[in-house]
Amino acid sequence: MNAQQTRISVERATKRFSAGGLTVFDGLDLAVRDKEALCILGPSGCGKTTLLRTMHGLIPLDGGRILIDDAVVSAPRRNVAMVFQHFGLMPWKRVRENVAYGLELAGLPKATTDERVERYIEMVGLRGFERSYPSQLSGGMQQRAGLARALALEPDILLMDEPFGSLDALTREILQDELLRIYQLMPRTMVFITHSIEEAIAMGDRILVLSARPARVRELLQVDIPRPRTVDSVIAHPRFLPLRDHCWRLLREPAA
Ligand SMILES: Nc1ncnc2c1ncn2[C@@H]1O[C@H](COP(=O)(O)OP(=O)(O)O)[C@@H](O)[C@H]1O
Ligand SMILES: [Mg+2]
Repeated sequence: MNAQQTRISVERATKRFSAGGLTVFDGLDLAVRDKEALCILGPSGCGKTTLLRTMHGLIPLDGGRILIDDAVVSAPRRNVAMVFQHFGLMPWKRVRENVAYGLELAGLPKATTDERVERYIEMVGLRGFERSYPSQLSGGMQQRAGLARALALEPDILLMDEPFGSLDALTREILQDELLRIYQLMPRTMVFITHSIEEAIAMGDRILVLSARPARVRELLQVDIPRPRTVDSVIAHPRFLPLRDHCWRLLREPAA
């Protein structure tokens, strides 16, 4: 597949919540390219989660449309997986069962499920914790399990909603490095939502900066920092500070 090919196309998308007459976004356009990591950066409450949920087909639009691989999204698709801010694990299931659940639901043969569960638990660094319940794990470890669960589906599109947003700063940085390593190993199309400028620069090939609600595209920036990356290598790169300042200004100043 051509690297510039569009995988997700958001066209004039409009979403309202009728209860309070709330317009979350109105005529939003964006395109996500094959195997790119597109970070979406915007102030709290601007509609980032709502946008991701419409991309996943969990909630309908009120206008416009979203296409994945040229087909209109109306329900969750097999090749798309989501990682949630609050991990989204089932507390009554062990790590192993949480990671296996989606594969069993998809009707994969037991041998395939077992092999994938083991491989992805290893990949996210959770070997030895297969039999733990989420409540027995730290937040960082729970999100490792959340990542393993999404990766085990071998989706070619990953939707991530502030996946590290509820972690402490140190754990967040460790998991950012882990995800950079995994992305290097298995590049795939990724929409990564965050309200952290530093995280958007570290993770993204491009950054879409949204305005406050109703969310509009303020700017689409190229992150011209080479991969492979680590958080440290990104912060040390001469492009980091200018990019960070630019994003700050976009987020702070109201649109003209
Ligand atoms: N199911 C819902 N019903 C009514 N309002 C909602 C619902 N979900 C989100 N909202 C509102 O839509 C706006 C955008 O929310 P959200 O997408 O969660 O923002 P973000 O993820 O950028 O912080 C907020 O004002 C929020 O209160
Ligand atoms: Mg949100």
